[in-house]
Amino acid sequence: MMYNEKVMDHFTNPRNVGDIEDADGVGEVGNPTCGDMMTIYIKVKDDILTNIKFKTFGCGAAIATSSMVTEMGIGKTLEEALKITRDDVADELGGLPPIKLHCSNLAADALHKAIEDHMRKKQ
Ligand code: FES
Repeated sequence: MMYNEKVMDHFTNPRNVGDIEDADGVGEVGNPTCGDMMTIYIKVKDDILTNIKFKTFGCGAAIATSSMVTEMGIGKTLEEALKITRDDVADELGGLPPIKLHCSNLAADALHKAIEDHMRKKQ
């Protein structure tokens, strides 16, 4: 088995799938290695991420990391969420096969982009 149980759980039963119509920020990234795409939508109140949803057109690892980053981000302040690194997401999933590590880059990047989008709109 290439993926551990936690990764399989988030892949087969992803949390927070979908979009947010009146999102406070949207972050979209593409993976240059494979061409897969991920979009993250956030709701923010008093600088806290109250909701995060994602849409991912990608492999199992990309879906599992998107799902995980939504769980890691909800309830955090924007500042804390900006500190979530690509490695943090993979670590929280108990690791990914080395060949799949590039897939885990999308999730943290898309979340950061959504937060940056929100901050730009607020100015
Ligand atoms: Fe494209 Fe994993 S193969 S994100």
